[in-house]
Amino acid sequence: MKTRITELLGIRYPIIQGGMQWVGRAELASAVSNAGGLGIVTALTQPTPDDLRREIERTRTMTDKPFGVNLTILPAVKPPPYAEYVQAIIDSGVKIVETAGNSPKDFIAALKEHGVKIVHKCTSVRHALSAERNGVDAVSVDGFECAGHPGEDDVPGLVLLPVAARKLRIPIIASSGIADGRGMAAALALGAEGINMGTRFCVTKEAPIHDNIKQALVEATERDTKLMFRTLHNTARVFRNAISEEVVATENRPGGCEFEDVRPLVAGARGRAALESGEVHNGVVSAGQCIGLIDDIPTCAELLERMVRECREHLDRARGWMD
Ligand SMILES: Cc1cc2nc3c(=O)[nH]c(=O)nc-3n(C[C@H](O)[C@H](O)[C@H](O)COP(=O)(O)O)c2cc1C
Repeated sequence: MKTRITELLGIRYPIIQGGMQWVGRAELASAVSNAGGLGIVTALTQPTPDDLRREIERTRTMTDKPFGVNLTILPAVKPPPYAEYVQAIIDSGVKIVETAGNSPKDFIAALKEHGVKIVHKCTSVRHALSAERNGVDAVSVDGFECAGHPGEDDVPGLVLLPVAARKLRIPIIASSGIADGRGMAAALALGAEGINMGTRFCVTKEAPIHDNIKQALVEATERDTKLMFRTLHNTARVFRNAISEEVVATENRPGGCEFEDVRPLVAGARGRAALESGEVHNGVVSAGQCIGLIDDIPTCAELLERMVRECREHLDRARGWMD
């Protein structure tokens, strides 16, 4: 395949594994890159910038293909040392960064000076346009279906992508709701030149999470996600389990709630422990609506080959209807 995204990132297939807290480690990133896509190591999964340097080195021992690093810039009372994480990325010679959350504008100059390509992931066309103006090389557009933070606009990919494609000049990567070759074909038809997946990559052999979690996602349907933090204007789409049900119930009680009321339920360490122990109902697990499309646990190589084959078949089939 050849699109502006395969050319920009130096990859065989325009398929990217989005940054994922606790999941985006060397094992998964290298497997995706070895399969011909772009694997991404998640910076903040590493407790310190030096740990990130070590994780990048570990990834290098597992693949000689390009891979990237995700930097999720979220508002926080005590923010992580972002500039030091950026320096670790630059010093390690990584040439692709996926930024997400707030605007990456403070880090663009330093990254570009060192030849790093920047893909900014965002949930609205206005933020994509602003990233384009600030000089990023491509944008990933996350629709309402996505795992994690879909923003507050509630616009699904079927509308968001073509609006973005009409307005942006830099290449667009479709993120959210894609788990098979049909979704990939649709994304390309809507104007994307690549796709980004999170949830689907959690349910692969190489994803470093407990099999019970993968199995729970296989068994889930498209109705099994929950939107929490709506009332706090920081919406997150997560797997429907005892914890996310309790968070939403707390938000909906008379008088609402503050973040402090649910903090113990949603603590990052608790989510991480659930992913590692397989206790599906004991922490927040990010998941997108595409869980309804996932019914097996393939290797990343099997997944990518199958998706590209299916994508071709579905595009050919649709083309046949036009004769
Ligand atoms: C378990 C999990 C953790 C995630 N953590 C992050 C994160 O730390 N930073 C980020 O930018 N996106 C994160 N995401 C979002 C993904 O990178 C991606 O944008 C999203 O999953 C795409 O939607 P999909 O799940 O429908 O494929 C996460 C997704 C999942 C499933």
